[in-house]
Amino acid sequence: MNSSELKQLIEGIPKAELHLHIEGSFEPELMFEIAKRNNIAMDYDSIESLKKAYKFNNLQEFLDIYYIGAQVLIHEQDFFDLTWAYLTKVHSQNVKHVEVFFDPQTHTDRGIAFEVVISGIYKALEKAKDELGITYKLIMSYLRHLSEEEAFKTLESSIPFKDWIHGVGLDSSEMGNPPSKFEKVFKASAAQGYKLVAHAGEEGPSEYIWEALDLLNIVRIDHGNRCLDDEKLVKRLVKEQIPLTLCPLSNLELQVITKMEDHPAAKMLDKGILATIHSDDPAYFGGYMNENFYKTAKGLNLSVNQIKQLAINAFVGSWLSNTEKDKHIANIQSYFSSFEN
Ligand code: HPA
Ligand code: ZN
Repeated sequence: MNSSELKQLIEGIPKAELHLHIEGSFEPELMFEIAKRNNIAMDYDSIESLKKAYKFNNLQEFLDIYYIGAQVLIHEQDFFDLTWAYLTKVHSQNVKHVEVFFDPQTHTDRGIAFEVVISGIYKALEKAKDELGITYKLIMSYLRHLSEEEAFKTLESSIPFKDWIHGVGLDSSEMGNPPSKFEKVFKASAAQGYKLVAHAGEEGPSEYIWEALDLLNIVRIDHGNRCLDDEKLVKRLVKEQIPLTLCPLSNLELQVITKMEDHPAAKMLDKGILATIHSDDPAYFGGYMNENFYKTAKGLNLSVNQIKQLAINAFVGSWLSNTEKDKHIANIQSYFSSFEN
């Protein structure tokens, strides 16, 4: 299959995005527009000079810029516009279902009310459901560089909006902030009915993946690249079919891998791990779902069957009902069979 056929194949796949930070979808063009209407001076004098700063040696260098970018978001309309821009973009990429992270503390710590943040995001998600037919789940992520006590405050703030939130996650600086630091707040979050996920094994060791499983009781691992260091862990992930939401372009940009050819996605599929492909922070890492699929397929020389498996796995690992999952998976099967003919 040549490059343009591969591109075409990927574009047409009905896709699910399970690992996406809404603040990481903030494109520089929209950032400048919102900064202007909010009378906030940007540190960069042009979109081009901002984009030039998007060169990262590790996760922390990215996070430093990502948190600065989010500071221009003030009003409900800003959060709505951010979310709507993401949803219309992925609609054009045939994404049918999204499970979106937001980082409340990035905003509440600047004095923006939790209600302002979540209302803008929620209204855009509802609009996309009605007008674009994209289904969604919303995941509130705790910032792991902050204390567990602060995560508890966030949990408390979320209670009035419980019906809009489906799960909690754990993101930000991984090294030195193990899942064990958040054991109590994850337990309390589960008691509120939230599903649980956590970033683990992106930069941190495989021990953090064990902790996320055993201490936090998560149902899905975000990233999880480092699981391959530990055979016993791989066996567990396979046996329990714990989804791993991989983000290949993110891994490349944050130097988790040095070249796409080294990405663990294919190895994981071979071992029977429920690996899936997503975009993490597409405005910063050079691509949304299609670009992540395409560059991974190219770099790893994936077979059509492996591409199909990755697409199916995302729906399997989603929080849709079994009926909804079956419908999407049948659509993927039929798409691929028509492509093969
Ligand atoms: N890792 C950890 N925290 C994050 C990321 C990530 O890739 N993106 C946004 N917050
Ligand atoms: Zn992430």
